[in-house]
Amino acid sequence: MTTLTIGATIGDPDIAVELDARRFNRHTFWVGQSGSGKTYALGVVLEQLLLNTELPMLILDPNGDYTRMRETLPSATAADAERLAEADIRVFRSGSAEGERLHVRYTDLPAATKAAVMQMDPIADAEEYNVLLHGDPDARTFDAQEMLAELRGSGDPDQRRLANRMENLQILDWDLWSRGQASVVDTIDERPRATVLDLGGFTHPAEPKVAALAVLEHLWAHREERRPVLIVIDEAHNLCPPNPQTAVERALVAQLVQIAAEGRKFGLWLLLSTQRPTKIHPNVLSQCDNLALMRVNAPRDLAELADVFGFAPEASIRRSAEFRQGQALFAGGFIAEPTFVQMGERLTQEAGGDVTVPLRVDAAG
Ligand SMILES: Nc1ncnc2c1ncn2[C@@H]1O[C@H](COP(=O)(O)OP(=O)(O)OP(=O)(O)O)[C@@H](O)[C@H]1O
Ligand SMILES: [Mg+2]
Repeated sequence: MTTLTIGATIGDPDIAVELDARRFNRHTFWVGQSGSGKTYALGVVLEQLLLNTELPMLILDPNGDYTRMRETLPSATAADAERLAEADIRVFRSGSAEGERLHVRYTDLPAATKAAVMQMDPIADAEEYNVLLHGDPDARTFDAQEMLAELRGSGDPDQRRLANRMENLQILDWDLWSRGQASVVDTIDERPRATVLDLGGFTHPAEPKVAALAVLEHLWAHREERRPVLIVIDEAHNLCPPNPQTAVERALVAQLVQIAAEGRKFGLWLLLSTQRPTKIHPNVLSQCDNLALMRVNAPRDLAELADVFGFAPEASIRRSAEFRQGQALFAGGFIAEPTFVQMGERLTQEAGGDVTVPLRVDAAG
């Protein structure tokens, strides 16, 4: 059995706590209030998965927190540092951050997704939608201004309407589009050990969601290949809310619900992290067989967790209200029995981390 050492028992630092790596073939829910240490602790588990398994991971990273996983800290042993440095970790950035760009091909998107991006209804906007369906531009030679001029010059009111829609929604300006360059799905298809998608730097609020949707739909479309991947989503409430508002959000949640319900047997395994259980769609939550619970104070959230995760004793769940930073309850398939854990130290560099209050020099300390 391959085990991942993630920390020590609370109260006895000599007793190491181990997770069963094989059980990441289920969906995992990770929860704790802001500052409880989720992002840090999740990093500890991802490092152990990198070191002890061959499981490819796709990390949807809303704040660029996992962009430095190749850089080890002095706390890592020489052997671990070497293995982590050699691991095939690809990082794709958004915004002004340096590094390879996070791109997807507009032309790869299914018609329904293009319509969602364009906030278009296939029936109510039937004519415009039809222009969209038949007008796929060649990404290599694509020129936005040229296309708008062509649509407007056609004399066809539906083409003019589509041009106005594209311009008004500013979709042609998105940094997300590959414009003839490679798409991140090309890399994901190679199944590197980790592919980190930094979703935090985009300008338009829909861009990170469309990026996630494009990648998840691609994985789903190729599910029959049965090539395993652990899909890690930090701050998952951004991508999987219970009440999606826009067409893109609805498509994204529908895709995640489908993966939660049917992805397991195809090797599409979710690991979702968030602050409150009610911030995640209930049909995704109810499919999670592994639980990592950090500090949660709100009695209503504790009651909800006890209700959904019957495999974790209610008294243990309630104890999480007293957790300090870095303490957690692990329960479910990936651990022999529900266990209180003091998480171990990270081996790689955290890229995010908290901002500290600026203090006066003479008052510091
Ligand atoms: N076990 C730990 N050891 C040392 N520092 C830690 C530990 N856990 C968390 N921290 C530090 O505490 C701060 C907050 O932790 P973290 O970002 O993991 O919280 P979070 O639960 O993800 O919060 P949020 O929900 O707001 O994202 C970070 O600066 C992190 O470096
Ligand atoms: Mg966090």
